[in-house]
Amino acid sequence: MDITLQDIEKSFGKLQALKPLNLTIKSGEFVSLLGPSGCGKTTLLRIIAGLENADDGEIQFGDKTVYSKKRRLNVSPQKRHIGMVFQDFALWPHMTVFENVAYGLRATGQKAHLKEKVKEALSNVQLGDHAERYPHQLSGGQQQRVAIARAIANDPSIILMDEPLSALDATLRDEMRILLQSLVKKLNMTAVYVTHDQNEAMAMSDRLVVMNQGEMMQVNTPEEVYQRPENETVAKFVGKGALINGTHVLYEDVHYLKLNQNTAIPFSKNFMGELPYNSRVTAVIRPEHINLSRTARETGIEAEVETVSFLGERYEVTFRIGGSDQSLFAYSKSKLSPGDHIFFEVTGNYIHVMTNAHTGGERHETA
Ligand SMILES: Nc1ncnc2c1ncn2[C@@H]1O[C@H](COP(=O)(O)OP(=O)(O)OP(=O)(O)O)[C@@H](O)[C@H]1O
Ligand SMILES: [Mg+2]
Repeated sequence: MDITLQDIEKSFGKLQALKPLNLTIKSGEFVSLLGPSGCGKTTLLRIIAGLENADDGEIQFGDKTVYSKKRRLNVSPQKRHIGMVFQDFALWPHMTVFENVAYGLRATGQKAHLKEKVKEALSNVQLGDHAERYPHQLSGGQQQRVAIARAIANDPSIILMDEPLSALDATLRDEMRILLQSLVKKLNMTAVYVTHDQNEAMAMSDRLVVMNQGEMMQVNTPEEVYQRPENETVAKFVGKGALINGTHVLYEDVHYLKLNQNTAIPFSKNFMGELPYNSRVTAVIRPEHINLSRTARETGIEAEVETVSFLGERYEVTFRIGGSDQSLFAYSKSKLSPGDHIFFEVTGNYIHVMTNAHTGGERHETA
């Protein structure tokens, strides 16, 4: 079922937790709200659920309006027919797994085929043979699976999840992520998922909504957000890599990011829109697009290694670009040490230049 948010906004006293925003989530889509703590993710999710009321705007589920400030319409959370999963599993300790899952169905009067529905939900999260256990007899991951079973038991077409995996350890989180992903697709639910873990969001989602201070900064596929972040905030929050400032110049048909009189990095014109020449720009270079070598090559630019971290399969290296005070971040197969003199090149001339107003358009001074 589609979810449409129109001009939704919310303040708590003087704090504007959500600036007016519009978003359409397509039926069957998995969308993640991603952003730093306090940016408004939970508030937006609670507004969709009806647990919080927006100050203005409208919400539609399919053709049905579930909230409209102007029309004074507000469908209660129970009647919105959604499933919800939270960070704390919030199971009833005195009830068995079966009763925990059945509770929501009973509470909303859905008593027909109750046993079958609960059994099916439990089997969907692979807990079919744990129905008679109590929460304290389950591991953290199993408890969270009960919470998921409870959310899907009444066959909702929309599921809302607020950091459901953040209380689990890393290995379990990966397993649960895969289970959740396949369950959402199998049951053909529209999913809104809140997280501040960029890897989780990128791995699970059809689209990301990157939020900051109550605003949606960018809404697009994980690939697009990663490769073409619209502004510095998004570039810093999604993916690794370094931001670098320079002047955009054209020389013999090649675009360059000129750092100073001596240093210029060539790049293809892969950004959106027109960028005036001789203007100051901010670019992001992802580490996988940088090659490091100890020996000078024709296109290599001199640099000095600053920090090195060993990560098992590779080293993560920061290095200062020769003759400048700017640093970049890259991967290396071979061991390097701080102080080493190296050369780098950007492969495929892959530099993403950000032109959006959020990058500080005021810095784009045309010479
Ligand atoms: N009921 C409330 N009363 C007052 N302020 C609130 C209330 N709920 C949220 N806020 C404030 O609104 C802002 C957004 O909060 P929200 O919980 O949506 O953030 P979040 O993105 O989910 O953060 P986190 O990642 O830490 O969970 C925060 O500044 C928060 O303090
Ligand atoms: Mg939150």
